Amino acid sequence: MATRRPVVLSIFGTRPEAVKMAPVVKALATRSDLVGRVAVTAQHRQMLDQVLDLFSITPDYDLDLMQPGQRLEDLTGRVLTHLAAVFDDCKPDLVLVQGDTTTAFAAALGAFYRQIPVGHVEAGLRTGDRYNPFPEEMNRLLVTQLATLHFAPTPTSQAACRRSGVQDEAIYLTGNTVIDALLEVAGQVPAPSEEGRVLLVTAHRRENWGEPMMQIFGAVRDLVEARPDLRAVVPVHLNPIVQEAARQVLGGHERVSLIAPLDYAPFVTAMKGATLILTDSGGVQEEAPSLGKPVLVLRTTTERPEAVDAGTVRLVGVQREDIVREASRLLDDPAEYRRMANAVNPYGDGRATQRIVEAIRYFLGLRSDRPVERFEPAIV
Ligand code: UD1
Ligand code: UDP
Repeated sequence: MATRRPVVLSIFGTRPEAVKMAPVVKALATRSDLVGRVAVTAQHRQMLDQVLDLFSITPDYDLDLMQPGQRLEDLTGRVLTHLAAVFDDCKPDLVLVQGDTTTAFAAALGAFYRQIPVGHVEAGLRTGDRYNPFPEEMNRLLVTQLATLHFAPTPTSQAACRRSGVQDEAIYLTGNTVIDALLEVAGQVPAPSEEGRVLLVTAHRRENWGEPMMQIFGAVRDLVEARPDLRAVVPVHLNPIVQEAARQVLGGHERVSLIAPLDYAPFVTAMKGATLILTDSGGVQEEAPSLGKPVLVLRTTTERPEAVDAGTVRLVGVQREDIVREASRLLDDPAEYRRMANAVNPYGDGRATQRIVEAIRYFLGLRSDRPVERFEPAIV
């Protein structure tokens, strides 16, 4: 009788998880010594499908759980309940989760209840403030406790895993898979069109709902109104709360384009073509430095200090006048702009997926020696 190949089940549900897991899913699918399976919770529906289509990923299980205006507690419960049947059917030897979403936390907890080991992709990100980002900081802490394997993207996140009590043998310093995805897609997209100066803006974080988001969009309005040659492009997250805030503050302005979330490839083109990026997104903070684009982060904390240290990302908070002041410095002072517009890669070198796959093979007994290659960020 043929021996059973170990099954690795990747579980994800939102846009950023899909971008960051796509290279891993594709790489696992090419292996003949294991079976790669995919379950999506569809915590996001349309924004997940955009990524699945681009990377030609057809999930083995689609729980289709998204509900309009979903609450954290409801979604968490539904993910846990519905994944049980997936575990029964596919009997994974290892479950992979990514990042800090409700899907990642609930899937890790569900796997733990079945005593299935969990590998955490993008382990060890921390702000140190349990309510910021909310609920992601707590999700990360909890996934670290639940996981058996920890794929830390950077030396900083590796150190954070250690501080959380994880033994060295369980941590792999891999780089972030978002750079693998970005390099694959950025090489294929057309050059951006030259149409004057563009602010690219994204905002969606829960802790920015309400007044902070009004301040953010107000700042975008001020910046555009003060410069006749400047346009803002705002792909608006499908969350109704975000949609409403964007429409209220920016709707109808002739040089502000409120558009639907872009597919990943056109979004990469938009990043390449942007003069300046304003965002509260985690993924965008990681991608833009690789493209040499200055980023102002619309938050009061970040779990991604590496690009701030490298000088291409600045944390500007969520006050309208602070955002306007910092963006104006860059838009109006070419020397200041040049200082910030350096292409750096503190988050990855395009080989994170390969390192993760080899660590998984070692864990599953498919190779005898522990892989030693690790991500070494270039000194900038
Ligand atoms: C979630 C994650 C956040 C991540 C973000 C990426 C949690 C707690 N939050 O936040 O960490 O940064 O995704 O975007 O896991 N919606 C749609 N269609 C979609 C996606 C969302 O209509 O394709 C709407 C729905 O009304 C949904 C709402 O947005 O209920 C909120 O989605 P949810 O995943 O709960 O929260 P996000 O704010 O997207
Ligand atoms: N993104 C995209 N289309 C958009 C906006 C963002 O494809 O219109 C991509 C972006 O390049 C990054 C990911 O979505 O890879 C980030 O997702 P998001 O900002 O929703 O979540 P976060 O990273 O903050 O968790």
